[in-house]
Amino acid sequence: MFSVLLTCLFLFRTAHITTVGVKRPDFSTAGTPVTIQVNSFATSVPNSIIHHYDVVISPSEKTLPARMTMDLIRRLQFDVAPQIFTPRCVYDGRKNIFSIHRLKFDTGSQEFDVTLADEAPSASGKGPKVYKIKLTHVAEINPEVLHRFIEGKGSHDNTVLTAITALNVVIRMQPSLSYPFNVRSFFTDRETKDIGSGLELWRGYFQSVRPGIGKMLINVDISTGTMYKKGPLLRLCLEFIGKNHPNALSPTHGLPDRERLRLQRFICGIRILTTHCGPDGQKHTTPRVLKKLSTAPADKLTFTMREGQSMTVADYFQRTQNKPLQFPHVICAEVGSGALIPLELCDVPPGQLMRKQVPPEKTKDVLDFATKKPLDRLQSIKNGLGVLAYGQSEYVRQFGMHVDNAAGPLKVQARVLKPPMLKYGPGSRQACITPRDGAWNMVDKKFFKPVAIERWAVVVYERQGRFNDQAAQDMIKGLCDSCYDVGIKMKSTPFIFWENGQGRIADQLKSAGATVAQKMGKGPQLIVVILPEGGNDIYTSVKHFGDITMGVATQCLKSSKCYRAKPQYYANVCLKINVKLGGINTIPDPSSVSVLTDPHNPTIVMGALVIHPAPGSDGRPSFTALVANVDSDTAKYIAASRVQTSRVEMIEELEAMSHHCLTMYMRYREVVEKKAAGTTAPKRMIFYRDGVSEGQFKQVLEQELPLIKKACASLKINPKITILVVGKRHHVRFFPMSERDADRSGNCKAGTVVDRDVAHPTEFDFYLQAHGGLLGTSRPAHYSVLYDENNFSADALQSLSFALCHVYARSTRSVSIPAPVYYADIVCSRAKNHYDPQGTVDFSDSATQVDEGQAASSLEAFRRGFKPLHQSQSTLMYFS
Ligand SMILES: *[C@@H]1O[C@H](CO)[C@@H](O)[C@H](O)[C@H]1NC(C)=O
Repeated sequence: MFSVLLTCLFLFRTAHITTVGVKRPDFSTAGTPVTIQVNSFATSVPNSIIHHYDVVISPSEKTLPARMTMDLIRRLQFDVAPQIFTPRCVYDGRKNIFSIHRLKFDTGSQEFDVTLADEAPSASGKGPKVYKIKLTHVAEINPEVLHRFIEGKGSHDNTVLTAITALNVVIRMQPSLSYPFNVRSFFTDRETKDIGSGLELWRGYFQSVRPGIGKMLINVDISTGTMYKKGPLLRLCLEFIGKNHPNALSPTHGLPDRERLRLQRFICGIRILTTHCGPDGQKHTTPRVLKKLSTAPADKLTFTMREGQSMTVADYFQRTQNKPLQFPHVICAEVGSGALIPLELCDVPPGQLMRKQVPPEKTKDVLDFATKKPLDRLQSIKNGLGVLAYGQSEYVRQFGMHVDNAAGPLKVQARVLKPPMLKYGPGSRQACITPRDGAWNMVDKKFFKPVAIERWAVVVYERQGRFNDQAAQDMIKGLCDSCYDVGIKMKSTPFIFWENGQGRIADQLKSAGATVAQKMGKGPQLIVVILPEGGNDIYTSVKHFGDITMGVATQCLKSSKCYRAKPQYYANVCLKINVKLGGINTIPDPSSVSVLTDPHNPTIVMGALVIHPAPGSDGRPSFTALVANVDSDTAKYIAASRVQTSRVEMIEELEAMSHHCLTMYMRYREVVEKKAAGTTAPKRMIFYRDGVSEGQFKQVLEQELPLIKKACASLKINPKITILVVGKRHHVRFFPMSERDADRSGNCKAGTVVDRDVAHPTEFDFYLQAHGGLLGTSRPAHYSVLYDENNFSADALQSLSFALCHVYARSTRSVSIPAPVYYADIVCSRAKNHYDPQGTVDFSDSATQVDEGQAASSLEAFRRGFKPLHQSQSTLMYFS
């Protein structure tokens, strides 16, 4: 009764506001209540009007780095016009200044001349560069809109957005004057780790003002900054190329061109200080930006002096410094002005973020540094509050924001949902099991629908010396034993082939298949491939052969993993093999997930994703995937994938992809499940969209939803559609308050869900941590309900999303996002397998530096080269 009343009040209260997605229909109540902490801190909202100014800095031939624009505004406020800028304003480093009072301009705007503090007059006699900064009053923001919004009485409109932006700029202002930063984090050297190659990791703190239900919150998290190591540039360069003697940087002593280019890619853009004196006897005190490295060493590199004579860089420095260079054979740094400076005279100031991709061999170090158990992470976050120092920031105080540090991290009402029961096949000791802490095992269980394998082959790419016949026999025995345990029938012994990985993989596999066909009358259903260490290329070729050209299931195993492998290893392999051949490992027991597997409402669940090329890889396209179940138990999935224009966020070919998945769903229900004609169409469609940010929600509704509807219309079906966006790129983390509420990893238990406090004030959303903890702090997934023709309650959507986290075939653990979304991610990341390994499409790093015209033609090549899945695999979980 009481909760009905509350719900009514809630609905009444929100009746007139508009939302992008679905308005929250109700709060969920299922599961066991538990109080947890999250890494958010309550803050008060300013009470007086905030003035918003537009900032234009000229000349602005190119966008100045935020470090410089911040510096210019600092100069403006402190030195150029302190009388106008008291109390001081906050600046976002780009286009926006916010002030708590109206600036005293004669008109709506004013222009100021500002120079950078320590830019000394240059040798050419020109004075320091003058920047013109024009401020224009554009709006007054009444923070009352924020109060109304968090109380659920106002819409998420532009005023609210700008007000939230203003508060974010306020809290960032002080730290951005004191610490190195990137878009959202600040970094300190209080916690660092040297990872070699000229790099060190710094602890960073992320902060973001976010509206919660009834309160404004600051979400604080830790992050990791990869920094260039400070100190002599020469040492940094040597460390990067992994050499000790400076002459390793000398072309005369054999520095390969390739290595110099690699080094140049690594350090270009770095700011350096020069340790020598200029012609005027002065030291340069402002850092200069390194543009490139010279090809020639200092003693061979000549330039023309202003007086007209030419001399080598080495001679020049010998003359101006009165002593010879220590390493004249070493290459030089070229800075922005074109000046050439010997590496030995350059110094790297501390706190410079390396904004490029971390070398692959260092990613493990970065991961280790970033990984912290929940208790440690929460402590580190609390330490971060000291660094972010809201209490000491004049900006935070003068805007009237009070951050409640003392109250500590926000305590929120969470609930732990009951996991679905999972059903195994005949012959299992227990037909149904209930996962505990997000995990279960295969002991004494048979697959729900195991396959039978009549013909198979083993192809070994490891040298016979390392993986001999005995090793192969051991592997086969281990695999067969595990197959037997889970109910897979191995009806024959395999044919074994040793092949050379340097050869043509496709031909080798084809001939292995031909041998099987010759002896057994038909080709193999499965090829098990043993890969050597570093066999990635072989892997790609095997997958291309199996999934694309030939249509045969392939299972790759690393030779090192097979050596004395435990039964558990092969049990995991069986999980993949069974579904690749069309079997079903387990299904959620219909009685425990009635919303999902209600026979009166046949449901198709989809996972959709676009992945984009890494930053800087401009010639590469984006790839899309759509994965959907075909069975009534939402356990068996199929996939469609495409290549599309680079960095386009919406799935261009969603109509055709949806059409394919829906057709396959109906066909499976008709042919395999033998449903009566007229009952094969889905009545519900749950569409999970991954990889879109809040700003793109509208686009999903405006561009993707119509494509899905078109696909349905062309099939003359009319399922009720629900769209949820699943996101993991947020910084909300759950922390248990006591050991009793934690799993063995110290994380909140699998199934912990939150839709209050930190959830959205008006839109239908929730955070769900569906998986058991592993090494660090788990990341709950965030679900935003964008569209819902099914009128689902919060309880219904939470429980069905949680259930879908349990049907990921490859593991006996629940996963952090619904299985179809997880599969879509795998399908996208394997897009490379669709290209002929012998073909012309180039995935190597060297192929990524291209101009616009080249990018277009390279996209065309990527489109043409993308081969569709083999017909036979399109009904199978080849991606498992
Ligand atoms: C959902 O609610 C709307 C509005 O109340 C109603 O028109 C529609 O029929 C409902 N849909 C379902 C599937 O119950």
